[in-house]
Amino acid sequence: MARSTASASGGKNAAPRAAIVAGLRTPFVRAGSEFAQLDVLELARAVTVELLQRLALDPREVDHVIYGNVTRPVQYSNLARELVLATGLPKSTPADTVTLACASACQAITDATNLIERGYADVVIAGGVEMLSNVPISLSLPLARALIGASQAKSMGGKLHSLRGLALADLRPVAPAIAETSTGLTMGQSAELMAKLNGIKREDQDGWALGSHQKAAAAWEDGRLAEEVAPVYVTNNGSRAVTRDNHIRRNTSLEKLAALKPVFDRHYGSVTAGNSSPLTDGAASVVLMSDRKAKALGLTPKAVVRSYAYHAVDPAGQLLIGPAYAIPRALDRAGLKLSDIELVEMHEAFAAQVLSTLQKLESKAFATEELGRAEAVGRLDPARINASGGSIALGHPFGATGARCVMTLAHEMERQSAQLGLVSVCAAGGVGAAIVLERL
Ligand SMILES: CC(C)(COP(=O)(O)OP(=O)(O)OC[C@H]1O[C@@H](n2cnc3c(N)ncnc32)[C@H](O)[C@@H]1OP(=O)(O)O)[C@@H](O)C(=O)NCCC(=O)NCCS
Repeated sequence: MARSTASASGGKNAAPRAAIVAGLRTPFVRAGSEFAQLDVLELARAVTVELLQRLALDPREVDHVIYGNVTRPVQYSNLARELVLATGLPKSTPADTVTLACASACQAITDATNLIERGYADVVIAGGVEMLSNVPISLSLPLARALIGASQAKSMGGKLHSLRGLALADLRPVAPAIAETSTGLTMGQSAELMAKLNGIKREDQDGWALGSHQKAAAAWEDGRLAEEVAPVYVTNNGSRAVTRDNHIRRNTSLEKLAALKPVFDRHYGSVTAGNSSPLTDGAASVVLMSDRKAKALGLTPKAVVRSYAYHAVDPAGQLLIGPAYAIPRALDRAGLKLSDIELVEMHEAFAAQVLSTLQKLESKAFATEELGRAEAVGRLDPARINASGGSIALGHPFGATGARCVMTLAHEMERQSAQLGLVSVCAAGGVGAAIVLERL
């Protein structure tokens, strides 16, 4: 994966590099709000069609589609393939749906990178979608088994027999939980644990959250976010265009944030609705191409993928600390130091998780005890992180966030003529993802 910049610019026989050519997302809206009547496929389709049109990309050029999605609707066994069929891409285009919790779209993008770098694909659409408004509600196991038994029974008596023994509680629908299967802890409870273990103060969490809202509001004001957000036309529930993110709180303040009650530990906690990312609907798509293909089509890559890494930790410990391990690994693979990185997009699941990650990166004890390194990974200047705000203000549609981070970073690197950038995303299961981008 890692390669020197010298080989990157390489000659005729240099290996292809995976270039971020374009990206687009839907507005990110609070679950249960403006997209509540839409289907997950419609949302993914809307942004992908718009992206292809804006790029004037011949659909026949697309070799593969990889899409992330976490709360998978039962009717789509392979959402990415349905996306191919719904967007009018050639029916011969293979597609796969990936899930890595909040880092699902990172997985889609690094899978696309692998295809391109091996020379197996020249053009890949990678992204992700989440509709937390319409999470698949399933049946309890006893009820599901009884219904299957009933459907297989040959006689009415047999059918009734299958349903015997069901308790009232078995009829209760089961919604997917934002909780770890192995520990039973929700993401919020895990963030709370991290805040306590790392001594992350409430006022620092609120300060980070305030910055997220202020930067996001400014980025809408000056047109930066408008460039990467496509309107979604909701036609099945009163015709209207949804054009903007709807969670950004322009008028929030440290005082308002301080007044909010902790949600996940009501008595001793510090994680609130204000310093957490909200449940969100949204989709994001990115077009990756081999650098040669981009050149042949007359397109200028915004950035190329220089390296990436994943690392997982024990979910019973600091569940969302994975990026503190994945970041140094991705940097090592790129032959870089943290101080080489000019811009960062760090997914903000919770302010407590961001601040814990930054703390670990700065800690010599963490470096020696956990990473086997002599020195701390380094300090990241908060001014370099999340130029247009992060998931706390923008929202966090699980399957889409990784693509939003990669796309926003690539745009910002182009805008600021930054050479090197880093994306980091924490995910359920204790997984952390890190991707290093480089401008050619
Ligand atoms: C934290 C969480 C439970 C809050 O849900 P919620 O109660 O629907 O949140 P709301 O946005 O309605 O906020 C609750 C209250 O705080 C207020 N509030 C929230 N953020 C605020 C801010 N920045 N400034 C001022 N007030 C704020 C709201 O106005 C609301 O007030 P009200 O009750 O008077 O209307 C929910 O967002 C959640 O579960 N987030 C975590 C998601 C998650 O686990 N993701 C996975 C990450 S890995």
